[in-house]
Amino acid sequence: MNVLVTGGCGFIGSNLVRYLRRERPEWTVVNLDLLTYAGNLENLSDLEGDPRHVFVRGDISDRSLVEPLLSTHAIDAVLHLAAESHVDRSILGPEVFITTNVLGTQRLLEACRAQRVKRFVMVSTDEVYGSLGPTGAFTESSPLQPSSPYSASKTSSDLVALAYHHTFGMDVVVTRCSNNYGRYQFPEKLIPLMVVNALHDKPLPVYGDGANVRDWLHVEDHCQALLRALEQGRAGEVYNIGGGAERRNIDIVKAILGLVGKPESLIQYVKDRPGHDRRYAIDPSKIRAELGWTPAHTFEQALAETVRWYVDHPTWWTRVMSGEYLRYFETQYRGRLQGRA
Ligand code: NAD
Ligand code: DAU
Repeated sequence: MNVLVTGGCGFIGSNLVRYLRRERPEWTVVNLDLLTYAGNLENLSDLEGDPRHVFVRGDISDRSLVEPLLSTHAIDAVLHLAAESHVDRSILGPEVFITTNVLGTQRLLEACRAQRVKRFVMVSTDEVYGSLGPTGAFTESSPLQPSSPYSASKTSSDLVALAYHHTFGMDVVVTRCSNNYGRYQFPEKLIPLMVVNALHDKPLPVYGDGANVRDWLHVEDHCQALLRALEQGRAGEVYNIGGGAERRNIDIVKAILGLVGKPESLIQYVKDRPGHDRRYAIDPSKIRAELGWTPAHTFEQALAETVRWYVDHPTWWTRVMSGEYLRYFETQYRGRLQGRA
């Protein structure tokens, strides 16, 4: 089996490439990644020299690259993760989210259709459903009500992928997952950002009142769910993936401070994210019943291991945060601290 992973140098993608090499050692994994600020080959340095991991730098939108890639490597299936993934960035500059996530996905689908790829797994997000009140959970038939340019772009690409199934008969499976945590997550997302700031004794910016809730899933559990979706998912179906670990942001931030031995006085409540979704929670009944998937990690233990990993790998996050991102980080951060809630 030959699979193409797009975005395989990002956070989930690099964990997925490693997971597939371990769980399906006979497969060849081709990894197509543009290496934006979020993609780093260092995330896969342990696979250097592995003949069954083929890295190709390029854009999912470039059909003159993608079609020959699919045919040369006789790709059977695509796991599509490449995207602009950060909500705050989509508020600062939405255009690239539409270009990559919507147009890029459509071009990739078209290349796969032309090359008769047997299965296309579209990695989407629970953010397509918008925000929940204090109770309830998203099912696959919850209304699609995305709030941010990021989630609107993911909703669009998710629906375009389903349209390729309904219209052209392509074998497409869509997954909608909750917030991931684990190794190699770019330190703009909540958990690694808070660890890195705490280690530098910098303020920890908590948006609004800190009571927003996310449903956290360890990235390896997500990888396992994606492999199940690829191997056993039904064409044209959507599968929600969630960790069953609803936590308030402020509680996570306090837990991180406890784990690294820093004081809660580092917490700074800052101006809220515009359009900030209040609560996400996933009902995973469908994937559990149909694909036999349940998460293996427990949140508190896996959070502690994750924080330990960032503490032990300062060279990794110093390198990935250098250059373009640092400038963005400084601007974004200064603005938020000035406008405290
Ligand atoms: P990430 O930002 O860490 O990685 C994205 C990767 O895509 C990077 O390696 C980047 O270089 C690559 N990329 C961007 N534009 C590209 C292009 N035009 N062509 C080729 N490669 C390109 O993202 P992530 O957090 O690993 O998320 C991966 C996928 O999973 C995304 O589709 C995201 O929407 C989805 N998702 C993420 C989460 C989460 O909690 N992180 C949860 C649910 C779903
Ligand atoms: O739910 C799945 C989504 O999870 C994915 O589709 C996205 O790609 C991924 O980025 C993530 O989106 P969030 O916006 O939920 O993740 P983020 O880590 O940016 O924020 C998590 C929560 O923490 C959110 O309520 C905002 C808050 N937050 C975030 C940052 C970066 C803060 O309070 N302070 C911060 O500095």
